[in-house]
Amino acid sequence: MADTTTANLDVKSTIAGAKVASDALVFFGATGDLAHKKIFPALQAMVKRGNLNVPVIGVAKAGWNIEQLRERARDGIATFGGGVDEAAFAKLVQLLKYIDGDYQDPKTFEQLRTALDGAKHPTHYLAIPPSLFATVVEALGKSGCGENARVIIEKPFGHDLESAQRLNAILQSVFPESGIFRIDHYLGKEAVENLLLFRFANAFLEPIWNRNYIHSVEITMAESFGVQGRGKFYDETGAIRDVIQNHLLQVVGFLAMEPPTSMYPESLRDEQVKIFRMIPPINPTDLIRGQFAGYHKEPGVAPNSEVETYAALSLEVDSWRWAGVPFLIRAGKCLSVTATEVFVKLRQPPLTKLPPGSNYFRFRLGPDLSLSLGARVKRPGPRLQTMETELSAVSSSETGEMEAYERLLTDAMKGDSLLFVRQDAVEAAWAIVEPILGDIVPIQPYQPGTWGPVEANHLAAAIGGWHNPEGKATDS
Ligand code: BG6
Repeated sequence: MADTTTANLDVKSTIAGAKVASDALVFFGATGDLAHKKIFPALQAMVKRGNLNVPVIGVAKAGWNIEQLRERARDGIATFGGGVDEAAFAKLVQLLKYIDGDYQDPKTFEQLRTALDGAKHPTHYLAIPPSLFATVVEALGKSGCGENARVIIEKPFGHDLESAQRLNAILQSVFPESGIFRIDHYLGKEAVENLLLFRFANAFLEPIWNRNYIHSVEITMAESFGVQGRGKFYDETGAIRDVIQNHLLQVVGFLAMEPPTSMYPESLRDEQVKIFRMIPPINPTDLIRGQFAGYHKEPGVAPNSEVETYAALSLEVDSWRWAGVPFLIRAGKCLSVTATEVFVKLRQPPLTKLPPGSNYFRFRLGPDLSLSLGARVKRPGPRLQTMETELSAVSSSETGEMEAYERLLTDAMKGDSLLFVRQDAVEAAWAIVEPILGDIVPIQPYQPGTWGPVEANHLAAAIGGWHNPEGKATDS
């Protein structure tokens, strides 16, 4: 049975210190897609868990009234949030207010000030396209709504290093860095946090977690679905900007960082940045870009688009711990299965005739969660033969997982920034991918339902080929 004792590795509670809780939540883009799919379900879950008891003010320009917003909330929760809990939903409806107004119009922000009703530490969540960030942030500053407030923004944090720096300057013109919460929802995933805890809470791991014992690290984020109606966004983004610069580099950070100390609050985020700074900018010769056949027919996609729906790359971490260990990352849409997995291959013991590849750690990050150790044991019988086995340490059924958005919104409302991306981390991550953005290498076509372009196999040849995770072939 799982041990339920609270581990003293709970860095959050030991280092977060006293924080001021927000007394209002404002979310811009209240009628949009993100609010529908993610924010309303998270809000209901927060109410249900007793973590939300302050006014929630939706802002948008849709010509809607509060009744329409409530209906939209109900629909989002029913469709994407696992169902409406009538008691929690009724409470959420009591907290919910709505302002319909143009973000360019100062009157919208006057209305917001009135609706805030003297709230001293509001949190403003910008669930809006990045092109509107500057307008809203400046208006929050001018109207006084930004005073002693926090702001939450969603990735993409800029489009490249320069635009990320510009965006950070805009945000910091109104909010202090400690009041800026950049959401990378991967950091709110139970499975991703488990990487960190598993590494540092087990004495047996540390002696082998380095170049002397680790042969290679592979991270695969495979999605069997396409761009799901987000053609316009995706065609301006591509796989590297969409998931590699952020989600998958964060995973590398947790896998590779040095142990954080609990002696000061920023230590975990400092270690994260240190790792990013130890990764040399990726060489275009270590990159394969692919595009699934049929991508051009997606609404919003340019007919001659050369944007990648698949990318595979190899990087290094230039440190004493990791020198010479290849880190391979690949991510793609319309692949064979939906599965995100980290595969850490250990060096082979010097036994002759041992088949390769059975000493490993496998961290399954999605859609289900598991943590397994691949090992060889004796095959039962009279002969001295081995067979592969997997020891499983965690699986989804044991976790009672909290959705990432609920987790992160709850933290932001409390002022706990541990699981949010700091300015220097965003910029360091852009610096890693900067040389491989755009059409720097030719795009390779691949058929939907495959593992991407065959050219990517050359990249993995040095580590004995890709480990393809198992998973569902179609997205439900
Ligand atoms: C988003 C990307 O950030 O993450 C999507 O924009 C991607 O393209 C999604 O599908 C994956 O998130 P998750 O939680 O389903 O692994």
